[in-house]
Amino acid sequence: MGNRTLAIIKPDAIKNGYTGLIYDRIIKAGFTILGARLLKMTKAQAEGFYAIHRGKPFYEELTTFMSSAPCMVLALEKEQAVSAWRETIGATNPADAAEGTIRKDFATSLGENAVHGSDSDENAIKEIAFFFSEAELIANE
Ligand code: CMP
Repeated sequence: MGNRTLAIIKPDAIKNGYTGLIYDRIIKAGFTILGARLLKMTKAQAEGFYAIHRGKPFYEELTTFMSSAPCMVLALEKEQAVSAWRETIGATNPADAAEGTIRKDFATSLGENAVHGSDSDENAIKEIAFFFSEAELIANE
């Protein structure tokens, strides 16, 4: 199993003032932050990042939302990072998210669900490389 995952604190969570609280969850869950950057994605960047969802009914809304305001992108490290982060954030739809998860506590809807997490080791590698060079990350290992 891989030891890295990509996390994004989405525009809704940043606007709602939850960035610090979500960082606290990241640290308390035992992740090491290898890289972090605040950025406003262009529409084209959001479309590239979510290319896996191209053609799905929510793709346009998702990429418009993700490019509407700043996000915080983070490369996280922990043993079995993908599953550990998915457990920390909870189900994609906050209505289904377990108690104590980030989405349960900070998300507002399926579309504006506070955070993103990679869904496989293969995608984690691709998603991290989308935002960070390896040199930026190994400096913090
Ligand atoms: P995320 O983990 O960032 O991955 C894709 C995003 O699409 C997802 O979180 C949701 O915010 C958003 N989304 C909107 N509608 C749906 C849907 N019907 N099914 C899955 N994801 C959706």
